[in-house]
Parts: sequence; structure tokens; C-alpha cells
Amino acid sequence: MKLKIAVLPGDGIGPEITKQAVKVLKAVAERFDHDFQFEEAVVGAAAIDATGDPLPADTLELCAGADAVLFGAIGHPKYDNDPDAKVRPEQGLLNLRKGLGLFANIRPVKAYPKLIDHSPLRPERITGADMVIYRELTGGIYFGKKSTSEDGRSATDVCTYSVDEIERLSHLAFKAAQKRRKKVTLVDKANVLETSRLWRKTVANLSAEYPDVALDFLFVDNAAMQMILDPTQFDVILTENMFGDILSDEASVIGGSIGLLASASVGEKSAMFEPIHGSYPQATGKGIANPVASILSAAMLLDHFGLTREAAVVRDAVEESLHLDVCTQDLNKNNYYSTEKVGDFLEGYIIEAGNMRLNNENLSLGQMTII
Ligand code: IPM
Ligand code: MG
Repeated sequence: MKLKIAVLPGDGIGPEITKQAVKVLKAVAERFDHDFQFEEAVVGAAAIDATGDPLPADTLELCAGADAVLFGAIGHPKYDNDPDAKVRPEQGLLNLRKGLGLFANIRPVKAYPKLIDHSPLRPERITGADMVIYRELTGGIYFGKKSTSEDGRSATDVCTYSVDEIERLSHLAFKAAQKRRKKVTLVDKANVLETSRLWRKTVANLSAEYPDVALDFLFVDNAAMQMILDPTQFDVILTENMFGDILSDEASVIGGSIGLLASASVGEKSAMFEPIHGSYPQATGKGIANPVASILSAAMLLDHFGLTREAAVVRDAVEESLHLDVCTQDLNKNNYYSTEKVGDFLEGYIIEAGNMRLNNENLSLGQMTII
């Protein structure tokens, strides 16, 4: 398959982790005889520095013309504590989502058996947790009208949703549930918010088209608690933009590291793949960032184009790396590998078709050429 992939490394650790994902995709292309072409562009703080604009027109154009976008991370501390900043790196990401019409953000979360002990949550609570969050990505309070009064003493963010916006995401969530454990949980705040009541009504109506899928509802405050108390109860979580943002960071605790969580953002024409973590500025350039979230995002890219065998090999490679403790510092404090080395291991595994005889002994003896 021929694919044109726009690569937007972005800020902080974005470039280092994206480099590993590109390496992995090149390994997949080599092993399975695909033609993947990569083209890079700037976004976020890096783009503000270069052009004054967090999403330069050239970047948007490249992404719109590509089959897929691989996105790194966005954000820089110099903007975080400056509420008066006129341009912010995050606008680059938000404008990209809006500009490409990426209305569905899909965030799978699971507890890897090998990493159960890394989670601060008790093993018996998280064992078997396996869910996917369908977050609405181009509407709600993120994109409503914003204003600050002239005297600067009040500010407003408007939250609006339409039936169409709710329906197009909900169809994807129900279809995903049909292929999983057939349960959708709508998370809202329908006891308080008008938009949430519209979500509830719309999703309840639409669920009649999916009689094989069970639908239940949770208020977001309760959902936040249930996520920690009993995450195994969730299969597909369907929710609006801001609730999805918050719940997915919370859910990442189940996996043991936010450095593992991947996501896909899809629309009618475009698709973008990005880790859910941020730019982790303190780690920039140190070679300690976990590239796995970016690499698993690349696996979601492969799945998106029906390359399921290829995606499975990438996931196998990741599982094998976890199994053998070929991990960055966040997962293995005492004997860790650099961002680059983890990428090299995965690349080698993919190219050699998983035929390598690996064990901790020959790894530590340095017998592996790829380590
Ligand atoms: C995410 C991030 C973004 C969001 C930020 C960087 C704008 O937190 O993708 O979850 O809030 O959507
Ligand atoms: Mg977030």
C-alpha cells in the first residue's frame, strides 16, 4: 500500500518520540513491502518560533493532502503561565483538529498484565480493564465563543452541541462496541447541563439502531470515581470534548504510564494519530521519553488503513519489549533503555518478524545487535 504520511513532531519530546514511530513504520514498510512516504512540517511552539503562527498554512495544506498525519506533542512552558499570551501552541492542535474535521478521538486504555504493578491502583481493581474512549473533538466548550469583559473581571466560554455532531460520533462508538463487549456508556452531566440533556436524548434515540449494544449513562463526576473504583466495568465510553479530555488522562493511570496511551482522531476525509501525553518539556532531549504511545498511535494508523496484520506485529513488538523490560525509565527505574534504543528494539523485532530468540540474559550480555 502506498501512503503519504504528514509528520508533525511539534514541541518538547514530540520530535524524539515521533522519530521512533517513523522508524517503526519504515520497518513495517520494509517487512510487508509497502511504500510509506513521510513529509515533516512544524506546529505548536516550534511553529510560533519559526513563523509566528502555531498552525502555518503550509502545515495545514500538507496535512489535508496527506493520507494520514502523525502528530507528536504540543506545548511549551513559556506559554503556560502567561494567560495574556495572544498566540498559544495549543491553538495549533485545536485548529488542526477543526481544519481537518477530526470529530472523533479514539483512545484505547488497557491494563497490560506485565505492568499491573506500575499502576498506583490495586492490581485486583485494574486486572482485565480494557476500554476505549470515544471523545468528541471539534465541538463543545473548546470551540464555543470565548470572551473576556472589557474590565477583565469576567470571562465566558460557550458550550454548544448539535444533534448532527452527537450522532456522527455516536455511530462510530456503537459500531466499535459491536466488535467489542457490546456496551456503550454515555458520560455526561445531564442533571445540570442542557447540552448533556441533548446528548442523552440523541444517544438514547440512536441506540435503537444497535439493539445488540447495551447503553448506560453516567454523570461525569460519578464516572471519574468509577474509573478508579472499577475500571473493568467500561467497554466503550462515549462523551463530549472536555469530559473526554479529563477522563482519558485519568484512565491512563490504569495502564501504568501515560507514556503508553495512543489515540486516533478521525473525520470524513482525514485521520491523525497522536499520543495522548503532552510535550513533557522537562524531559526534552534527554532520551528518557517513552516512545510507545507514539508507536501504538502508528499501529492505530495501520489499522485505520486495514493493515491489521501489520498493526498486530507492532503491538506484538511492544508487548515483547514490555515482557523483556526493554523500557524507558517511567517503566523500569533501575535498568532502563533510552527512547532511541526502545525504538531500535521494536524496529529490529518487526523486521526480523519476531523470530529473534530473546531473553533477558542475551539482552544484558549485549548479544542483541539491535540493542
Ligand atoms: C489532549 C490535550 C489537548 C486537549 C491540549 C494539548 C489542547 O490535552 O489531546 O488531550 O485538551 O485536547
Ligand atoms: Mg488532554
